[in-house]
Amino acid sequence: MSRDESPIQGDAIRLRPAGPDDVYRMRVLGMQGWETAYSSFVQAHNRRSYLNGEFWSLGRLRKVVDAPDAVNLVAVDQDRIIGFITTERLTDGRYEVTRLYVEQAERSRGVGAQLLNEVFASLRRCGVEEVLVNAFGDNIAGRRFYERHGFALIEDTWTRVGDQTVSDVWYALRLDPSRPAG
Ligand SMILES: CC(C)(COP(=O)(O)OP(=O)(O)OC[C@H]1O[C@@H](n2cnc3c(N)ncnc32)[C@H](O)[C@@H]1OP(=O)(O)O)[C@@H](O)C(=O)NCCC(=O)NCCS
Repeated sequence: MSRDESPIQGDAIRLRPAGPDDVYRMRVLGMQGWETAYSSFVQAHNRRSYLNGEFWSLGRLRKVVDAPDAVNLVAVDQDRIIGFITTERLTDGRYEVTRLYVEQAERSRGVGAQLLNEVFASLRRCGVEEVLVNAFGDNIAGRRFYERHGFALIEDTWTRVGDQTVSDVWYALRLDPSRPAG
């Protein structure tokens, strides 16, 4: 079975575009994601300062969600947002997946795959040819997830988070325009 066809347990999960009213919940999921996935390699005071910074501010999230060329989705299970994805258009026309977070208790049931595949389909329909994603080098589960979805490592570098230096990796994926858009 291909990743596009992976089953979603229960059929209640639906995807819809993210809107301004969703940003608070998106921020909460991002904060939980940092606590559950990054606590072994980003120190607590640095997690705190990054999460209180511009990237996760409600203002920045609203801007991302409101962008005219935005492809941002939330996954909803019985009126509760359990995951979301944001993308941002780069100046050269490529897109970057800038945030992808699924509530811890809802992981490994295909929600992340569903969000990513829907973004790929939307971007293909818009003629976008390449998608980038950035992850912490020590985020093994996140990296494996992206690699299984076809992303190839293009840069292995480092970045600063607060007062520490952490491994930082960049991936790219070519979108095949001949694939079905659905
Ligand atoms: C990375 C992340 C978004 C993946 O979301 P997810 O909903 O768990 O993703 P999926 O369920 O589609 O896939 C996760 C795994 O579950 C498995 N899976 C998918 N559907 C499944 C099903 N129905 N039954 C059992 N396992 C399943 C997949 O094989 C996959 O394994 P892999 O990651 O080794 O490829 C999520 O783990 C997360 O929020 N992590 C913290 C934040 C993060 O790291 N974000 C990305 C980096 S910026």
